[in-house]
Amino acid sequence: MQIVRQLDPLRSALVQMRSESAVALVPTMGALHQGHLALVREARARAAHVAVSIFVNPRQFGANEDLGKYPRQLEADCALLEAEGVSLVWAPDAAAMYPQGYATTVAVSGVSGGLCGAARPGHFDGVATVVLKLFNQVQPDLAFFGEKDWQQLAVIRRMARDLDLTRPHSQAIHAVATVREHDGLALSSRNAYLSPEDRRCAAALPAAMRAAIAAIGSGADRTQELARLQAALLAAGFASVDYAELRDAATLEPVSTPDASNARLLVAARIGGTRLIDNMPL
Ligand code: PAF
Repeated sequence: MQIVRQLDPLRSALVQMRSESAVALVPTMGALHQGHLALVREARARAAHVAVSIFVNPRQFGANEDLGKYPRQLEADCALLEAEGVSLVWAPDAAAMYPQGYATTVAVSGVSGGLCGAARPGHFDGVATVVLKLFNQVQPDLAFFGEKDWQQLAVIRRMARDLDLTRPHSQAIHAVATVREHDGLALSSRNAYLSPEDRRCAAALPAAMRAAIAAIGSGADRTQELARLQAALLAAGFASVDYAELRDAATLEPVSTPDASNARLLVAARIGGTRLIDNMPL
């Protein structure tokens, strides 16, 4: 497995890889867990060569967010990736990604608004910008993203369609199901911030979401169930709920009709200073 930190050696390595097989890209910010490894395994199942990018992208963190404390463990991450048969790790530093004078931002309107876009202004511009750069740098045949960041996935799919990034885009961007702990909590690098007590309470998030989905599926009033979900999270020890909403899975438009078959429940809530997100189909 090659570990590459500059663009020129990346391009040389990719010429060789591309002459041998399709290349799949798994973009990450490191601090890898089983959720990332599920992406890598899906990628390996579809392409002989998998490139994983590890870059904590400063442009997707707000001024008061956790850029400084975001876990960084390149050596441990590389050991995990080597064991998965990854061909190449692309781990640029900030100067290689955004050289002096860098001035371009990609903004995807519509799907970027509301939900996490409202709570984290500029976040999805940072995500779209770095993902477009990663696509240009690696030029993958396929790319893999986790369903846990559902809005991010919608933003990337929209960008790929709008900018003709992939051919055919519907098959090239692969979404991989969220991996969960034994108690249902979605795996996230940010779970490492939780104290043992908060970690225990955090299981209320998927539990309350499942309860709301079951009740709505049985015909209960949606507005009341979403209010009940928020109350359940606050009672379990969450400090606040950023949003708990039913949205169209593809467009992320609010779902208004009671029989919408493509609806998804999306929730973001804060516990002990950590913001957790999750989503599930209705
Ligand atoms: O999901 C992530 O880890 C990041 O948002 C991504 C897609 C790697 C862009 O920095």
